[in-house]
Amino acid sequence: MLKYIENKTLEYLNGMPKNLRKSKGQFFTSLMTAKYMAEMFNISQCNNQISVLDPGAGTGILAVAFVEYVSRNFSNKTIFLTCYETDTTVLPILKDNLAYIKNILGNKFDYRILECDYILSQNFVPETGESITDSLKQYDFVISNPPYLKIGRNDPAARAMDKVVHGAPNLYFLFASMSLFNLKHNGEMVYIIPRSWSSGAYFKAFRRYLLTEGKIEQLHLFASRDKVFDAEQVLQETMIIKVKKTTKKPEFVKISSTNSCDDFDNVRTLYAPYNVVVSGEDLYVYLPIDEKDIKTIQTINTYHSTLKDSGLKMKTGIVVDFRQEEELRKSPGEHIFPLFYSQHIRNGRVNHQPSGKEFDWIIDSKSSLIQKNKNYVFIKRFTSKEESRRLQCGVFSPSDFGEYEYIGTQNKINFVDMIDDSEMDYPTTYGVYALLNSTLFDSYYRILNGSTQVNSTEVNNMPFPPANIIKIIGEKVIVSDDLSTDNCDRIIAEVAYDTHD
Ligand SMILES: C[S@@+](CC[C@H](N)C(=O)[O-])C[C@H]1O[C@@H](n2cnc3c(N)ncnc32)[C@H](O)[C@@H]1O
Repeated sequence: MLKYIENKTLEYLNGMPKNLRKSKGQFFTSLMTAKYMAEMFNISQCNNQISVLDPGAGTGILAVAFVEYVSRNFSNKTIFLTCYETDTTVLPILKDNLAYIKNILGNKFDYRILECDYILSQNFVPETGESITDSLKQYDFVISNPPYLKIGRNDPAARAMDKVVHGAPNLYFLFASMSLFNLKHNGEMVYIIPRSWSSGAYFKAFRRYLLTEGKIEQLHLFASRDKVFDAEQVLQETMIIKVKKTTKKPEFVKISSTNSCDDFDNVRTLYAPYNVVVSGEDLYVYLPIDEKDIKTIQTINTYHSTLKDSGLKMKTGIVVDFRQEEELRKSPGEHIFPLFYSQHIRNGRVNHQPSGKEFDWIIDSKSSLIQKNKNYVFIKRFTSKEESRRLQCGVFSPSDFGEYEYIGTQNKINFVDMIDDSEMDYPTTYGVYALLNSTLFDSYYRILNGSTQVNSTEVNNMPFPPANIIKIIGEKVIVSDDLSTDNCDRIIAEVAYDTHD
C-alpha cells in the first residue's frame, strides 16, 4: 500500500514546483520516515476501534503508513481515519490514495477527508477543556508532518490559539498544540517538526502547553540535518516527537537517533531521565544522544544561578555595519575607535588585526554606536557546522587598546558585560571566559540548541555558578596564565570538587 502512495507522491512532486509547495509549507515525508513514525505508537493499549487523525495529510503517506502498520500487526482492530487538507491540487491524490486503501482493507478501514483549515475548524479552549464536547477530543492517535510556515501574530490561526503563541507564530506548533488538544486522555501523537521549539524563547508558551497537558515519551533525532526529507533536501533541522496526553511524567524518555531518514536499520537508543530532558523554568527540552550528554546536563543542573544573579548579562554587538556605513572608517584618526568583528576573537583573546573587512574603525559621531573600552568577554554569534565548538569566546582586555576610550562591536559578536554597564572586575571576566570556554558549557549549549547560532537569551538563562565561584575560577585562570580549554576544564573541575567538599 505504502509503495503505491509513495509513487503517487513522487508523481505529484515532479509536477509541482518546489517554491509553490514551499509557500504552502508543503514538504512530504519520506516512506522510511513515515514507516518509522507509524511504528512508534503503542497500539496494543487501545480498544479494537481505533480513531486516528492526520492533519495536513498531503498525499496521505503518514496516514497510510499508520493504517498499514496497524492492519498488518493488529488484525483484530478496525481503523477510522480523519484527514484534514486544504490544498486543492493535492486533494485529488489524497482522495484517490485513500479510496485505494479502502478497496484493499474493506470493512476494517473507513475514513473521511475534511477539506477545511485544521486550525480554524476547531475550538481551542484548553483551560476549559472539561466542558468541551467529546467530538473535539475524539482521537486515540495523531500522526503528522504539519505545514512549516511562519504566520503573522494577527493571522486568524495565531489569534485562535493565542494561549500557545509567545512570539512569532509558526503553523507547525499550532498544529501540534491542536493535536494534543484533540487527543483522548492517554492518546498518543507522533509529529515530525523542526528542532527550534525545544529551547527558543518564542516557543515558551507552546512548550508550557505541550509539556503540561502531555508528556514526551520519545524523541528521535537525525544526526545529519540535510537528509530528513530525502527528495526534499530541507535544510531545517527536524526531529520526531512522541507525546502522550497525560499529566503523569514517565521516568525516562526514549531518545533514538539515526544518521538520516533512510537509515532506520541503525537506530541508536538511549533512555534519559525525564527530568534531565525537560527542565528549567522555561521547560527547555534537552536533546542528549549519549551518557556523556546526560552527565553534562546533570552537572550543569547543579548550578542554580544565572548570569543575572551575578549582575551580568550577555548583550549583542551594537553596530550593524551595512546599515551604518556613514560612521565606518578604513583607518584610525581623531575621534575614531577600533571596531571589532568576530574575526578578532582568536585563541581566547581579542585582537584588532586587519579583519579582511573594508572598515575596521568607527567614528564617535553617534554615541549610541560606541561603548566603553573596559573588560568584556566576547563570543561569536555565528559558527559554522564544521567548527568543533559552538561557544567561541575571548577575553577583551582594555589595556590592549589603551589609547582608546571607546570601542565598537559589530552585531555578529555577543559580549558579556555588567547589566548596569559598570565594569566587570578581572576575576569575574576570566571566570566567565573559563566557563564559556569549557567543554562542559560548550557541550551543554550544543545539547540545548541544535543550531549554530549563539543566542544571548539562552546564554542568559543558562545555569551558572554563583558570583563568588565565578571569581575563584577566574583568579585561578589569571594565575595559571593559560586560556586553553584544557586548562579551563581542569580549573572548573577542581573548583567544583573543592566547593562541594
Ligand atoms: C508538510 S506538508 C505534509 C504532508 C504530509 N502529511 C506528509 O507528511 O507528506 C503539510 C500539509 O498541510 C497542508 N496544510 C497547510 N495548511 C493547512 C491547514 N491550515 N489545514 C489543513 N491542511 C493544511 C498543506 O497543504 C500540506 O499538504
